[in-house]
Amino acid sequence: MKKPFLQAFGKEEATPTKYPIHEIRYRSNDGRTLEVVNNIEPMDAKQVKAMKELFDKRLTSFDPINKSGVWRYREFLPAFKPFDTVVTMCEGNTTIFSMPICARFCGTNNLFAKHQGLNPTGSFKDNGMTTAVTMAKKLGAKMVACASTGNTSASMAAYAARAGMQSIVFIPDGQIAYGKLSQSLDYGALTIQIDGDFDAAMDIVEDISNRGSIYLLNSINPYRIEGQKTIMIEMLHQLGWESPDWVVVPGGNLGNSSSFGKAFSELKQAGFIKKIPKIAVIQAEGANPLYKSYIAKNPVLTPVHAHTRATAIKIGNPVSFDKAWFAVESTHGIVEQVTEDEIAAAKSMVGRDGIGCEPASATTVAGCKKLVSKGVIKKSETAVCILTGHLLKDPDYTVEFHQDELYLDADRKSSVSGTQKIKTKGLSNRPVKLPANANKILSYIEKWSKTK
Ligand code: F0G
Repeated sequence: MKKPFLQAFGKEEATPTKYPIHEIRYRSNDGRTLEVVNNIEPMDAKQVKAMKELFDKRLTSFDPINKSGVWRYREFLPAFKPFDTVVTMCEGNTTIFSMPICARFCGTNNLFAKHQGLNPTGSFKDNGMTTAVTMAKKLGAKMVACASTGNTSASMAAYAARAGMQSIVFIPDGQIAYGKLSQSLDYGALTIQIDGDFDAAMDIVEDISNRGSIYLLNSINPYRIEGQKTIMIEMLHQLGWESPDWVVVPGGNLGNSSSFGKAFSELKQAGFIKKIPKIAVIQAEGANPLYKSYIAKNPVLTPVHAHTRATAIKIGNPVSFDKAWFAVESTHGIVEQVTEDEIAAAKSMVGRDGIGCEPASATTVAGCKKLVSKGVIKKSETAVCILTGHLLKDPDYTVEFHQDELYLDADRKSSVSGTQKIKTKGLSNRPVKLPANANKILSYIEKWSKTK
């Protein structure tokens, strides 16, 4: 097998510049994002069967490198060889749930959710952070940094702590959910609140990382994308290597959708799957640069000023735009946008299925509903929504929703000046205040149970 290397992503070149896998750089000389070229060799049916059996066998192992739902698939991660410095928290291993209530809500028959919120720090970021921090360790990094809407920072801070590295997070002041902020504080990261949005924080952290000793761990880092590929590899493993028709994923900085596209092309190349699932990237209407370009059929990024209560995806200038464009195009997928009301309603349905998720994750169910209504996703087709973060990441949103007090503006300042209230459409589940009297409570419960 040829050794992996780094290469600029994008336009075809006769003699593309190759960069060594252990060179610290985040962009090519001409400023493009980098990707790991793995040179995955095609396998014959016997080899594929043997490797699938190996993956099955690793499921019964207690060795962390096999227990991890990332490193279990390490044959697809050759850039990290040898695997003797792996920093793992047994990430991945996230369940695929059937979603009967959401399926009814979307008007489809076969709806599933792979819940990445069941990861050690509660989001899909752990899949990519285990690989990126492992590489940071190989490269001798002592200090790591990222800009974040909250989940990357939580994940990075945790993995850096496990690896004995110092971590620095740059977050937009007052714009990240408390669950996430509490994590990076507890894991010991230097937490810098930037007077600006995520896009501003991203520019600053890239600049600082280019100046020297700090290693950048945003998804511009190609080793993050490598780890996140395993979300799809594990999903296919769980589905008996039968591809669903659709994979539905939220779009923010667009690292996740990019990694899914890369996973599918490598799995196809290896002979692991015959059919490639179509990727549907869903963006919030107020943070929709990919959607806008997609509708205009123009593969050029025009940044937007982002606004959404789904703060995880409040991103207007996504780093992995080109890679995500390729993921959608190469899988014959689609990009859709959803409103704040649609996100809120979909999130409450995910809750009713007993699962729950954070707002950004609910764009998938909202997007699925829209795509079913447009006839893009057929009723009979199988769709897997990727729930990217845990319900408890953003409890304020959920409680405000159920009290019918959810505003587009998080600090509700503009509720005075008439800001938009997000509609709960009769889906809220208000807490009730009752006197401490057993008879009165029982009579209330009796009436309540009849309404259900
Ligand atoms: N869902 C959640 C819960 C996220 O935290 C993010 C991104 C996304 C979806 C979008 O994924 O960026 O790969 O398109 N959160 C980042 C962060 C940007 O800093 O935590 P993406």
